[in-house]
Amino acid sequence: MLITVVTIFPEMFPGALAFSLPGKALGKLWDLQIVNIRDFAKDRHNTVDDTPYGGGAGMVMKADVVDAALTHALSIYDGAPGKPEIIFMTPRGTVFSDDVAREISGNKNGMIILCGRYEGVDQRVVDYWKEQHGMREISIGDYVLFGGELPAMVVIDACLRFVPGIMGNATSTEDESFTAGLLEYPQYTKPAIWRERAVPDVLLSGNHGEISSWRVAQSQEITRQNRPDLWEQYVEQ
Ligand code: ADE
Repeated sequence: MLITVVTIFPEMFPGALAFSLPGKALGKLWDLQIVNIRDFAKDRHNTVDDTPYGGGAGMVMKADVVDAALTHALSIYDGAPGKPEIIFMTPRGTVFSDDVAREISGNKNGMIILCGRYEGVDQRVVDYWKEQHGMREISIGDYVLFGGELPAMVVIDACLRFVPGIMGNATSTEDESFTAGLLEYPQYTKPAIWRERAVPDVLLSGNHGEISSWRVAQSQEITRQNRPDLWEQYVEQ
């Protein structure tokens, strides 16, 4: 799986993705290419942004520069049998989820992720890449970050969990939170008593049937309390 990040801050990568299981698999089960948008600036000052038409605060990333960087990123996939996913990280996008991660990571041709910065990207290049290349706009949630780099890392991390071989234990993704529509049950490890708090007896019982039932009940209760929206979907299905 080849992932290409298009950014004005190439030094931010691989960042957190160099650690834990993604880090171990980097260069083996997945590869990361970084395209520095500034390399595609057209003037001697390496300008990547300009003031917004109509006025207002901040700067807007230039359409021609972003287009050239994306075109280069896409050319990296020339030998592939099909097209990679093209994703633009923006708080205006559709909200990311495990279902979206599963869908995107199913594309064996990999993905290109464009990270926006400043007040935004010239809308014409966004529209053009949506129309011509099926680029999708994705948000990681209802909050605004300074740029798309951290969101890109979140999307990559979530997608890598669905790439065969990257998770140590292949069944873990299946067990976890959203797969069954419920949040995860609580976990405990040694010691059996900590600050006078005991691990629930059932987990020490060795009775696998009872342990399973207890975990399902815990998952249900946590979901009902913390995520009434998910709970409603779960009871309706
Ligand atoms: N860029 C800034 N905020 C973002 C968000 N919430 N999701 C995706 N990209 C972003």
